[in-house]
Amino acid sequence: MRKLKLGFIGLGQATSKVMARRDEIDTLPYVITDACDLRPHALDAFRKEFGGKVFDNPEDLCRHSDVDVVYIATPADCHREHVEIAARHGKHIVVEKPMALSLADCEAMIKATEAAGVKMLAGHTHSFDAPIRKMREIIRGGTIGDVLMINSWNFNDFNHRSRLTSELKTTRGPIYNQGPHQVDVVRQLGGGMVKSLKAKAIMDSLSETEGGWSCFMEFENGAAATLVYDGRSLFDTSELFWWVGEGGDARPPEINRRQRQKYRRLKGLSRDEMERELDREKEQGRYGAKAFVQRGGGETRHQPFFGLTVVSCDRGTMRQSRDGVIVYGDDGPQEIPLGLELHGRAAELKEIYGGIVGNRPIFHDGYWALATLEVCTAIAESVKESREITLSRQVPVRE
Ligand SMILES: NC(=O)c1ccc[n+]([C@@H]2O[C@H](COP(=O)([O-])OP(=O)(O)OC[C@H]3O[C@@H](n4cnc5c(N)ncnc54)[C@H](O)[C@@H]3O)[C@@H](O)[C@H]2O)c1
Repeated sequence: MRKLKLGFIGLGQATSKVMARRDEIDTLPYVITDACDLRPHALDAFRKEFGGKVFDNPEDLCRHSDVDVVYIATPADCHREHVEIAARHGKHIVVEKPMALSLADCEAMIKATEAAGVKMLAGHTHSFDAPIRKMREIIRGGTIGDVLMINSWNFNDFNHRSRLTSELKTTRGPIYNQGPHQVDVVRQLGGGMVKSLKAKAIMDSLSETEGGWSCFMEFENGAAATLVYDGRSLFDTSELFWWVGEGGDARPPEINRRQRQKYRRLKGLSRDEMERELDREKEQGRYGAKAFVQRGGGETRHQPFFGLTVVSCDRGTMRQSRDGVIVYGDDGPQEIPLGLELHGRAAELKEIYGGIVGNRPIFHDGYWALATLEVCTAIAESVKESREITLSRQVPVRE
């Protein structure tokens, strides 16, 4: 099987999550070769681990490396520029969520990749999770009828995790950072075509930015949905879900409270000291940091869990379980166990491989991600203007 050469633009926390699943990536027809980043110690670590070429800027990597695919995991406000560079040099692209921070940037990225004839997949979102994909498959199979309603709830500590205040403000708290996960999950289950929405945000008095939202949306097919996200919460949705965390690993029950306490302590420092401390803590999770520990294999894992999503269909109801999906039908609940097959970033790499080598359509392409960003933008607009927003850039699920 033809192997593709894979390079990384940005070796931060998102890339450390890719590397933490090297056991999965290694089963795919890729060979990891080159990388670029601004942090010299991350480049040293990469060179030691993979032996490939390293660069301190994306232009040089794209010009001097023969990688087939670049994985772009730089901050969201760099995505457009880095996608345009990669496309100009004929590289296929996986770009982390959010695809960009404006619809105009998404359009420019689509245009650049189409003009260059390269494939782009916009990830990583929890719509790749096996239980979400399984629920979509059940809907498509028609055994429990049409989707009537989807309700998705996620309560966690997002706003108080370690990241620079500027990063939190750029993404309007969780709206553009976490919104793409929840919106992608709900759009995938509801068929993709959101007709309109109305939303209200809550503020987080600790981080002084948006802390979450409550959003009601309608799909063109008549289904209704609520999306609730609270990233400054003392309650944790994992409490209702066997304390399984976002990645399928164990989530400590006290984490939300501890994160708030930490954040409150940092607020007692000067602004500069607080920022330095936040970045120092975030650095611990970036690729190449001294404390970075590669995981993979071994430990018990369950399905990834990005909040509880309940899907009400005409003749049954579904939700995720720890290890699969539960379908509630006339004969009682039935659990469908799912293996820990490829999900997340490994699933993305598999999907874009099929696009590049097999010329198969890419489900999570630029148009899909633009439509998801349109919903996030509409949430922000509805909050600001206190009115219902009609969507116009939606695309259906590509089955
Ligand atoms: N942190 C996570 O767990 C996570 C999860 C999913 C998605 N993401 C997404 O991944 C993206 C990156 O977030 P992150 O949390 O990994 O940030 P980060 O700050 O940890 O990493 C960004 C990396 O990009 C490098 N970088 C910045 N500008 C650069 C440039 N011009 N050229 C080359 N390298 C450059 C930085 O040195 C850093 O190593 C964001 O879009 C975010 O939403 C992050």
